[in-house]
Amino acid sequence: MSLLKVSGLHAHYGKSHILHGVDMEIGDGAIISLLGRNGSGRSTLLKAIMGLVPPTAGSVRLDNKELAGLRPFDVCRNGIGYVPEERLVFPNLTVDENLAMGVQKAAAGGKAWSVEEMYDYFPRLKERRAVNAGYLSGGEQQMLTICRSLLGNPRLLLIDEPTEGLAPKIVEVVMEFILDIAKRGVAVMLVEQKLTIALKVAEEVLVMGHGELVFRGTPEELVQAPDVRRNWLEVA
Ligand SMILES: Nc1ncnc2c1ncn2[C@@H]1O[C@H](COP(=O)(O)OP(=O)(O)OP(=O)(O)O)[C@@H](O)[C@H]1O
Ligand SMILES: [Mg+2]
Repeated sequence: MSLLKVSGLHAHYGKSHILHGVDMEIGDGAIISLLGRNGSGRSTLLKAIMGLVPPTAGSVRLDNKELAGLRPFDVCRNGIGYVPEERLVFPNLTVDENLAMGVQKAAAGGKAWSVEEMYDYFPRLKERRAVNAGYLSGGEQQMLTICRSLLGNPRLLLIDEPTEGLAPKIVEVVMEFILDIAKRGVAVMLVEQKLTIALKVAEEVLVMGHGELVFRGTPEELVQAPDVRRNWLEVA
């Protein structure tokens, strides 16, 4: 059985109908890349799963428990973490304090991530643990946001364009971290604009066009589908 099962999901902003019946699944510890052009509805799908944009129809099940209709806080408590496009750090709190905000107890029988583990992954954050987060670089803020979300011990992490605006070296560090997260059994749904990265880390790729999934397959299958790339990904 899959960890997350989304069926017939619709979402609106006021009268604008954005998601038109999305069906998808993700298994424990899997990485899925969600691709698509600007405005195709990728962020809206993550927000609808989180309850930040309440779905107008359809179902979002985690471990067969219905989450559609719950408030974002409750979706989070049920095991879904969310890292939004805008790196949301608390600028006037230190790195240590930002991480402390994310700490939750592990679910019964589960293992909890610790702040020290985060610092082992990112020594740079440890060096700056007493610095206010507002002074960190974009890459450091991105790492901090992902770490803070992980400290809530999610089963599934939704990450929206984590590498945007980051230097290539930092992009690599963030992607290695995402691979490690998945190895520890946390599923990751990644919105990623850079095709090479999306194909490298994911075992499955979804392509969204106008609020619907227009392709689902392995990275190799997408490489062998030039029509999909031309029609739904490349900028004309
Ligand atoms: N708060 C909002 N109110 C009204 N319309 C919105 C809102 N947020 C997004 N939209 C519209 O919904 C559609 C899908 O937006 P979404 O943010 O999901 O796209 P996306 O695939 O994440 O692309 P990108 O991140 O490049 O903007 C777009 O047409 C966008 O203009
Ligand atoms: Mg977006």
